[in-house]
Amino acid sequence: MSISSPKWGLGRSLLVLSPCLLAGFLVALREHYCAINPRTNLPQISEARILGYAKYLSEDIGYRTVGTHEHALADTWMVQQAEEARRNCERVVNQDKGRKLQCEVWRQEGSGTHRFDMMGEAALQELSKCVLLLSLPLTGRVFILSDLTNIVVRISDGTDAGKEHALLLNSHLDSTLPSPGAADDAISVGIMLDCIRVLVDTPAWSPAHAVIFLFNNAEESLQDASHLFSTQHPIAHTVRAVINLEAAGTTGRELLFQATSEEMVEAYSHVPRPFGTIFANDVFNSGVMLSDTDFRQFEEYLDVPGLDIAIVGNSYLYHMRKNFLVITRANRCFTQNMGENTLALIKYLTAPGSPIPKLANFERKKPHLVFYSLLSHFLMYRFSTAKLIYGALFLSALRLTRSVWSGQPRGILAVVTGLLGSILSANAVALIMQHGLGKGMSWFAGGHFAAIGLYAPATLLGGLASQLLLRTTDEKTVFSSVVILQAAAAVVVQLLNVGSAAMFFIASIPLFSSLLLNNLVFATRAGEVSLWAYVWGQSVQLMFGTLFLIPTLEVFVPLTGRLGNVPADNIVATLVSILGAQAMPLAIPFAHRFGRNSLRQMVIVLSAIALASMAIYARKEVFDEMHQKRLFVLHLENVTTNERHLHIASADGAPGFHELVTDISAQFSSPSVAEADPVPLIMNEYNADWDSLYPFSAFLSPYKIELSKDAHYTSPWTKSFRLVATNDVVDLAAGTRSFTLQVDHPGLIWTVISFDAHVLKWNLDNNPPAEYARHHVKEASFYKIDTWRLDLVVNGTGGILFNFIGMQENAMWPGKKAVKAQGGPAMQVLENLDAWLDEKTGGTVDAMLIGCVAGTVVV
Ligand SMILES: *[C@@H]1O[C@H](CO)[C@@H](O)[C@H](O)[C@H]1NC(C)=O
Ligand SMILES: *[C@@H]1O[C@H](CO)[C@@H](O)[C@H](O)[C@H]1NC(C)=O
Repeated sequence: MSISSPKWGLGRSLLVLSPCLLAGFLVALREHYCAINPRTNLPQISEARILGYAKYLSEDIGYRTVGTHEHALADTWMVQQAEEARRNCERVVNQDKGRKLQCEVWRQEGSGTHRFDMMGEAALQELSKCVLLLSLPLTGRVFILSDLTNIVVRISDGTDAGKEHALLLNSHLDSTLPSPGAADDAISVGIMLDCIRVLVDTPAWSPAHAVIFLFNNAEESLQDASHLFSTQHPIAHTVRAVINLEAAGTTGRELLFQATSEEMVEAYSHVPRPFGTIFANDVFNSGVMLSDTDFRQFEEYLDVPGLDIAIVGNSYLYHMRKNFLVITRANRCFTQNMGENTLALIKYLTAPGSPIPKLANFERKKPHLVFYSLLSHFLMYRFSTAKLIYGALFLSALRLTRSVWSGQPRGILAVVTGLLGSILSANAVALIMQHGLGKGMSWFAGGHFAAIGLYAPATLLGGLASQLLLRTTDEKTVFSSVVILQAAAAVVVQLLNVGSAAMFFIASIPLFSSLLLNNLVFATRAGEVSLWAYVWGQSVQLMFGTLFLIPTLEVFVPLTGRLGNVPADNIVATLVSILGAQAMPLAIPFAHRFGRNSLRQMVIVLSAIALASMAIYARKEVFDEMHQKRLFVLHLENVTTNERHLHIASADGAPGFHELVTDISAQFSSPSVAEADPVPLIMNEYNADWDSLYPFSAFLSPYKIELSKDAHYTSPWTKSFRLVATNDVVDLAAGTRSFTLQVDHPGLIWTVISFDAHVLKWNLDNNPPAEYARHHVKEASFYKIDTWRLDLVVNGTGGILFNFIGMQENAMWPGKKAVKAQGGPAMQVLENLDAWLDEKTGGTVDAMLIGCVAGTVVV
């Protein structure tokens, strides 16, 4: 019997198909991981050096939270590194007098104010359209007053002309609150330093256009230092394009996720190991990622295009204490690749003929360029070309299916029903797991493959079972409908100018070609689909589909651990079912290949597999030591009431949080409340407890536990943390009051005030909201800068109630372990709680532990 005969039974067909499908999947996985570029005799990027810098910053110096002593140490270290680079530059020029090379170093100090809207207006709208079914309880708007530093190195050919148009590279030295920031962003700092070394040491290299390396010293406090550079640095106006190096994960290939001009995409096409798709670009710009980088400041204040590139793999450890582990565990060649890609970009963009000078006339508009990396190749073409190619493919697909045209509507119905069936049944599993069994997020610790393990059987089951609802349909008609629908989707989505249409186009290639080959070569009789058509079409599309599915899940699965109380199971089920169906489109015609009895058998077997996987996942723990729960804990001393509380919040919807808080309460709260059931608090504009994290506090579900009073304790903060009004002038005739609010906060950092007022004028910007409103103003400044001021003119002559809060510079566990005595009672409680949590949860919780001081005052 020939393999092309449809008479081969289900079992034998699957036996032939399975290894091919597996091969497609494995090729995709291999493609997604690592490769090293060949060596040359020129100076090379040194991964060992880069990781050495990152290790020094994240382990020897440690937690570099803006405003802390460690942050100041990193600043000093960075100045030394920059000066050393400059001396090396001078040495090289002395040895080779003909070399046109100049290195200049700045340490910028300055203060400024800026407004930060969480994710920007457009993204908020997108969100409220319930992409993530989230309703944000906050306005998400905060003003930041900062007093900070930057370290800047410029390499040029030493001429004015060479400095006129420059490329900017950016990374940040600071780390976020609970993390030593090895990947985010010390590795990028190391890469920039190593690029400087390689460029200077490369014989005869001279930049036709200058390159500016900005080692910015405050990103995590809300992009304050990049704002400072963009608005105040004397050479900022020469910047024509920016490359921002970031991390939203801890390992893996670095992803190009924002590209804002065609010239810059073109430049990116020259890197040795590209990893960027317009798909990531579209997803990021839709706002569902809820993240943001310095890139926004450069776009906004320098008005330049650029590339935003980040390490995105294993983001379980992102912004976590164990972040330093990436230094030893990272698959090493990723850092090497990122260094080499960055170096290639610098060399290309500073060479003669670079598009950099042309970008002086840059106009901000969405680049109409499709781009993606596929099987180690980087492809790019214009939207106009895309429309032509996709249109031609669609017409060819129609032409090819002409013979089966009469039955096409039924074929199309089968395919659409299959997709809906997949989405519904994966979501049904999600609902049962989360609400029926109370086992939500069971895949979390297992990562993206675990999510596939739970939802893929249901996805396939839904796709096949839904076909039982339809009348028997001709296999070939369904097969060709798949091809037509993919090609049509590519055309329609591209006509809407969404470049992600490429996803459907890419799928169309193996599908269309398999149909074509079937008709021309494989099939022995008209109207027949050969098994070879499945072998070719489905194996290749499974490979392409996996290349979309894996990175998407790699980003979104860990993200559910910090998205707040969202229906995480449904989000992940929907992703797996849509992208899974896209990776296995030929499952639907295959369902019609052997008649209803075989289809029923397949459905029964798949149901059993789906149930078994649910049973297995229901026994899994959500978190483990390398996939921890994020817990946010504040020890808060209220100087107005003299009370001390523990504030505890989580940022995920996994089961068990209430029980954990109950246990903590029984262990740590004052005896009077230890027995009581803790009550969750409401997070909104008026919940001042979490103002230190505003506006990200929107994602927290908080509890509050009262701690016992200590009769012998007198708070040192009552006198030192002060808000006072100076230059206080009341204009009775106009009904207004003008004053300067002075905030003194020795020993406290990241101070935030919130208040209700109708502000008529302030020194934050030129248009305060034209009504009575709640305002949040935050300070981010360098170590030992202990006072800030805010000029206000308000409608009304009375006093204003201010909430104020700050973090103790020396009460952050474990960042300040070495000086824990200085942290007072806060540090004692945090240390005990950390040890207790570790013991109780078996190391599956990563807690951010901070001592805060707050109060209220009428000024
Ligand atoms: C401190 O106590 C005052 C008075 O009860 C209260 O209004 C304020 O919200 C408390 N501050 C914080 C941050 O909890
Ligand atoms: C001040 O508030 C009052 C009452 O809300 C309003 O009528 C008046 O227009 C406001 N004044 C200014 C200058 O906006």
